[in-house]
Amino acid sequence: MVDLRELIQKVSQAKDKSELQILKTQFLGKNSQINQEFKKLGALTEDERKAKATSLNNEKKKITEAINYRLKELEKSEINKKLQNDKVDITLPARERPNGKIHPVSQVIDEISSIFSEIGFSVAEGPDVETEYNNFTALNTPENHPARDMHDTFYLHGNKKILLRTHTSPVQIRAMLDGKPPFKIIVPGRTYRCDSDQTHAPMFHQLEGLHIDKDITMGHLKGCLDYFVKEFFEVKKIQMRFRPSHFPFTEPSAEVDIGYRLENGRIIVGEGDKWLEILGCGMVHPNVLKNAKVDPKKFQGFAFGMGIDRLAMLKYGINDLRSFFEADFRWLNYFGFDPLDVPTSYRGLSR
Ligand code: PHE
Repeated sequence: MVDLRELIQKVSQAKDKSELQILKTQFLGKNSQINQEFKKLGALTEDERKAKATSLNNEKKKITEAINYRLKELEKSEINKKLQNDKVDITLPARERPNGKIHPVSQVIDEISSIFSEIGFSVAEGPDVETEYNNFTALNTPENHPARDMHDTFYLHGNKKILLRTHTSPVQIRAMLDGKPPFKIIVPGRTYRCDSDQTHAPMFHQLEGLHIDKDITMGHLKGCLDYFVKEFFEVKKIQMRFRPSHFPFTEPSAEVDIGYRLENGRIIVGEGDKWLEILGCGMVHPNVLKNAKVDPKKFQGFAFGMGIDRLAMLKYGINDLRSFFEADFRWLNYFGFDPLDVPTSYRGLSR
C-alpha cells in the first residue's frame, strides 16, 4: 500500500519546480508504486478489483491535486521574489542629466541643406579617403600643375595614390559618373589640409555645389548664390562681389566676397565697407565634364565650394575655429542648438 500521507507531505515540502517534477515522476510515473498496483488488478476477482481500482484512482487524484497545489504555491513565490528584486524606490530624487546640444557645424549643414533643397538641389556624399585621380587628375589638375601644391595634402601609404580629400570637389566626379545629366547637387563633408592656426584646422568642412544642365550660365550661378547668402544670413539685402580667380576645374573662375561692417567688434554681414571671402566658384571646365563622361557640347553648368566652418563662425559670432573641434561641453552648451529645433526655411532657420 502507498502511504498517502507521507507522499502528500513530501509534495508539499518540494523546494522548487524541478524537485516537484522529480516527485511527480516518482509517485505517478511508469515505475511508481501506484502504477505497479494498477497492473496487479487483473489478478483479482471482479468485486475486489472494483474496490481496489476505486481506491487507487482516489489516491492518484489526491496526489495529483497535491502536486498542482504545490506548483501554484511555488509559482506564486517565484513571482513575489522577482517583484521584490525589481523593486524601484520611486522616492529617490531624479539624477540630473546634461542636455545634448547640436554642434554649430551640424546646425549650419542642416540650414544650408534646407536652403538649397528649396530650389531643387539634393544632397550627395563621398568618402573622406579619396583617390589622387578623383581629387586632382579628373578635376583637370595634372601631375605637375602648381595647384597640387596649392593644397598641402595628406597622402596615405606614401605612394601619392590615396589621400585625404583636400576639397569636396571629387564628389562632382563621383556624382556625374554615377548618373546621367542633369545634375543638381550639394555635397557637405569633411576635408583635410596640412594647416593649423586660428582660422585653419587640418580637418574642416566644405560644401560643394554642382548644377549641370543644357543652358546653365554664370547668371544662374550668381542668382543661386545671391539667394543662398540672403537666406543663410537671414537678411533682405546683401552686397556681393565676384572677383576673377583661378581653379583648374572651372573656367571662368571667381571668388565671392560679401560686404560687412564691424559693430562693437562684431561682424555684421550684409552691407559695409569691408569684404570677406566666402567661396570659390566657376563654370565647370569641359575637361572635367569629359573625365566624368558628360558631353560638354550638350551640357554645361556651374560649381562652387565654400567653407562651412567659416560660415558658422560668421553667422554665430564664433571667433576661433579650433574651438569647434575641442569637444568642450561648456562651449557646446553655449553655442550649440536644441536637438528638436530642426532648421527649415519656412519655420525660420536659426534661433
Ligand atoms: N574646391 C575649391 C577649393 O577647395 C573650391 C571650388 C569648388 C572652386 C568648385 C570652384 C568650383 O578651394
